[in-house]
Amino acid sequence: MTIVYRTATPPLDECLDVYRACTLGARRPVNDRERMATMFAQANLVVGAWDGDHLVGLARALTDMAYCTYLSDLAVRESHQRQGIGRGLIAAVRAAAPQATLILLSAPQAVDYYPHIGFTRHESAWTIRPDQPVHRETP
Ligand SMILES: CC(C)(COP(=O)(O)OP(=O)(O)OC[C@H]1O[C@@H](n2cnc3c(N)ncnc32)[C@H](O)[C@@H]1OP(=O)(O)O)[C@@H](O)C(=O)NCCC(=O)NCCS
Repeated sequence: MTIVYRTATPPLDECLDVYRACTLGARRPVNDRERMATMFAQANLVVGAWDGDHLVGLARALTDMAYCTYLSDLAVRESHQRQGIGRGLIAAVRAAAPQATLILLSAPQAVDYYPHIGFTRHESAWTIRPDQPVHRETP
């Protein structure tokens, strides 16, 4: 099997199919087509892993191309996992912005994956969801 990594956004339906073919499908709004379309339209670095004309994996990232790259989604079809495709997608994302540090939030299923391939856990990462308020300073 020869996998080709292409830095270009694949057709939305093929992307949705990849999410649904692995556990990331349960963690992204795959049934909200419009939102997913926006997620892909506004991401500025998307890599597809192609087995011929079959999309078998993807990476969806936002990067400033110089300092930081947020890797939001990394997904490989269950049928194609543990064959080096995840690693290949990460390599392609890094190659597109070689000066940038890669930042991501791991899905529970992948918490052992990232340290295994060389990522360092960051102890001071913080998030705030859209429905959470920023606390006002107390007087
Ligand atoms: C996590 C994921 C992207 C890994 O992709 P992959 O193509 O299967 O991984 P690779 O083949 O590149 O694996 C590289 C190495 O990590 C290991 N590995 C793969 N998945 C692993 C996991 N979940 N936990 C620990 N190690 C893992 C492989 O065995 C391989 O080890 P080796 O080089 O020592 O033989 C893929 O399993 C996936 O899509 N999972 C579901 C969605 C998900 O959780 N995505 C992450 C969202 S943050």
